[in-house]
Amino acid sequence: MSTNKNRKELLRKLSRNLMVTLPMMTVVTVAGFSTGSGSFLELIPSAEAAQGEAEGEAKGEAEGEAKAEAEGSARGEGEAEGRAEGEAEGEAEGEAKGEGVSASLKKAVRRPEGYTPYQGNVAELRAKGEKLFNDTSLSSNGLACATCHTNGMLYNPTFKKEYPHFVAMGQRDFGMDMVHLDEMVQICMVAPMAAEPLEWGSEELAALTEYTRMEQKKFIDK
Ligand code: HEC
Repeated sequence: MSTNKNRKELLRKLSRNLMVTLPMMTVVTVAGFSTGSGSFLELIPSAEAAQGEAEGEAKGEAEGEAKAEAEGSARGEGEAEGRAEGEAEGEAEGEAKGEGVSASLKKAVRRPEGYTPYQGNVAELRAKGEKLFNDTSLSSNGLACATCHTNGMLYNPTFKKEYPHFVAMGQRDFGMDMVHLDEMVQICMVAPMAAEPLEWGSEELAALTEYTRMEQKKFIDK
């Protein structure tokens, strides 16, 4: 999990998984939104290209990666939750087949120890956050946060609860039982946006977090 290439590879596999699960969720969460052609994938221009690429490249690297990760997990690295050791291998296998998130990405979306969020003027952060929310250059696949979340799209009812709280994607893909709002921003950066997480303590992360706090308020009032 040391090279950039490996990480990019994992990100690609991850976004491919999401593309499989998202159309179903779309039907559930935004009933009436899906059209005859039915495709949420149309929102994701690079979906097919990414898939072909991921499959091609995954073959060479997946096995070695799986072994390395199994070793890492067995030593307890990145497995903060103290999962059963027996799970390590199964998980590594899943990753090799593109069914999971690497231990390092799981760690990357969690608040680091001793973390202090960037402090700034709230109004300025919100304005910056709104720009970032609409900025497709934040992702590696042409999506912006707003592509999925305009008008409260794709949020689940968990979004109405005070943070930290349970989020299905957080638990399913990242093994987190509770998620803070800034961690949720990082999860969507890494998973649906297929990008690197934002720097912890950065103005960008604070801005997006502050903006999504307003999104939450709108969603609650809806
Ligand atoms: C490809 C679509 C997609 C993109 C792009 C996306 N998200 Fe999400 N987001 C989702 C889905 C799906 C959920 C619902 C997850 C769940 O409830 O398990 C979600 C949930 C959320 C939640 C609410 C979680 C909760 O219930 O508390 C927040 C906040 C959020 N996203 C922020 C963002 C931000 C910020 C960005 C941009 C950096 C972003 N999202 C980009 C698909 C997307």
